[in-house]
Amino acid sequence: MANDIQWFPGHMKKTLGLIKSNLNLVDCVVEILDARVPLSSKNPLVNEIIKDKTRVVCFNKSDLADSKVNLMWKEYYKKQGIPMVLTDAQNGKNIKELIAVINREIDKSFKSKKRTNRRGRIMIVGIPNVGKSTLINRLVGKKACQVGNKPGVTKGKQWLRISPELELLDTPGVLWHKFDDQEIGTKLAITGAIKDEILDTGELALKLIEILQDNYIENFSSRYGIDLSGVSPLEAMEMVGRKRGFLSSGNNIDYDRTSNVLLDEFRKGIITKASLENPE
Ligand code: G4P
Repeated sequence: MANDIQWFPGHMKKTLGLIKSNLNLVDCVVEILDARVPLSSKNPLVNEIIKDKTRVVCFNKSDLADSKVNLMWKEYYKKQGIPMVLTDAQNGKNIKELIAVINREIDKSFKSKKRTNRRGRIMIVGIPNVGKSTLINRLVGKKACQVGNKPGVTKGKQWLRISPELELLDTPGVLWHKFDDQEIGTKLAITGAIKDEILDTGELALKLIEILQDNYIENFSSRYGIDLSGVSPLEAMEMVGRKRGFLSSGNNIDYDRTSNVLLDEFRKGIITKASLENPE
């Protein structure tokens, strides 16, 4: 893939180093995953970096994911004893719950370390496009004001105040995507985490159609007003293209336009809410 540059070992090492040095400044790490692809949007090294630091997992874009699968994941994390909150940063859903969970976890860790009377500090980590900036804006809200540099803390770090007890490092830790597996790359591209240019749009749309036919056929068919079950993904694409009038010269299907519309409508949640990965 063209994005191999992100795997360049020097780049990885630098990113890791940055996250590690920021980690020393915080009491809790909020790891953001895309609720639709929580496995593919998780960087495998994050556990290694975070180690035993207090962690809260945030399943963002949960508004675009399958609500049944969201609950399955919630149960899964509960069993693992890892605090997890389903959020929709775009609409500000469950942000209060997220803050409450973060405060609770920090309190627990302060108590165990017998630390008192000190503000909790957090940082956000996640791969590109999971909603880190959107979530930071939601957490800080209108009262966005920089707290300023702390004496004794690395110069230049900016802290944003979430509440009198909680501060957020204004620069999120940007982790890289996992590209070692084509399947993961495909899922990240379908959900829009990776830019289209690096994968063939037609192939991607066919893969999306396959997923929709297997798991969300009713919503898929009803979106385009045609029965899209029992046909091949290519036939389904042609049916959608024809229905929408996406034709090129000679009355042929405009495959590019059809593919782009299918992907765009899926990413916006217009075709269906969907989860491409579940705990099983
Ligand atoms: P990042 O910092 O992790 O890279 O992500 P960012 O906040 O920039 O969010 C990426 C896109 O995802 C943005 O859309 C943002 O509005 C959207 N987004 C963030 N959180 C949520 C959520 O909980 N639900 C939904 N539905 N969308 C969310 P964008 O500005 O349109 O960017 P793009 O989609 O054109 O890349």
